[in-house]
Amino acid sequence: MSQYTLSFIGTGAMGSALAKAAVKNTPPEKILLSNRTPEKAERLASALGCAAGSVTDAAEKAEYIFLGVKPQMMRELLSEIGPVLAKRSGRFVLVTMAAGLTIERIGELSGGMYPVIRIMPNTPCAAGAGMILYDANSLVTPEELDRFVAAMSGAGTLDRLEERLIDAGSAVAGCGPAFACLFIEALADGGVACGLPRQKALLYAAKMAEGTARLMQESGLHPGAMKDAVCSPGGSTIAGVRALEEHGFRAAAMDAVIAAAERTAELGK
Ligand SMILES: NC(=O)c1ccc[n+]([C@@H]2O[C@H](COP(=O)([O-])OP(=O)(O)OC[C@H]3O[C@@H](n4cnc5c(N)ncnc54)[C@H](OP(=O)(O)O)[C@@H]3O)[C@@H](O)[C@H]2O)c1
Repeated sequence: MSQYTLSFIGTGAMGSALAKAAVKNTPPEKILLSNRTPEKAERLASALGCAAGSVTDAAEKAEYIFLGVKPQMMRELLSEIGPVLAKRSGRFVLVTMAAGLTIERIGELSGGMYPVIRIMPNTPCAAGAGMILYDANSLVTPEELDRFVAAMSGAGTLDRLEERLIDAGSAVAGCGPAFACLFIEALADGGVACGLPRQKALLYAAKMAEGTARLMQESGLHPGAMKDAVCSPGGSTIAGVRALEEHGFRAAAMDAVIAAAERTAELGK
């Protein structure tokens, strides 16, 4: 039996977002945080009530080991912890969040046939409103997968997606917060141009985006139908929709997702 339920190697933007979510369903003292610059993990651990330790501790002493480093750093990390993993006798699961790196590649780099769960989270996980896509290799038992999903449910919504589609899902859900923030910021800029104070413009834009997404999910309406419901004939909203269409808004959003998916595929090579 491992001393810790979860450990995190890398407490950067995504690792820390997931650690913040994990403490909701797992006792913080059962979570170990580690990072190349240890102070970063120590600061977060003291804020969350988790333990802090070395990368070796994280590889050696937890049931689920979250690999929270950039894809380019994964080779170095896995060659560092490979010998530690090889010496373990009990069960453990590697959890990779690296964009573009397949489960098979993680297996190759770690030097062993280990149970691996691949996730694609997003930054809203830190606020409990995230989206986590996941898949696993056949070495992960159904019980291990269920326990993982339960442990991470404080992050938001989890959805199993076959691995071949994870790059596409990642371009929408993982990169999407940056695209959504550009849109929110641009709307606020428009509000400021029309005379609104900056803080109010940002609040209105963010609350509008949050509320629209929530209404869409609660009502089950198609976004096109929701758009139609706001556009009265000859009114102000349809004038704004026309301006967006003139500037190629939909094509720009589609291209953003396609470019992100292509770049993800490159990173995995
Ligand atoms: N950011 C997102 O929205 C997002 C979304 C989905 C997936 N991801 C994935 O999440 C992973 C992390 O991305 P990120 O945005 O969180 O990057 P990040 O903010 O740069 O964090 C990476 C962390 O890993 C640490 N690190 C690097 N090498 C290490 C090593 N050998 N041992 C221990 N710690 C090490 C770094 O430590 P230092 O403090 O020393 O630099 C840093 O704190 C990536 O694989 C990315 O593809 C990110």
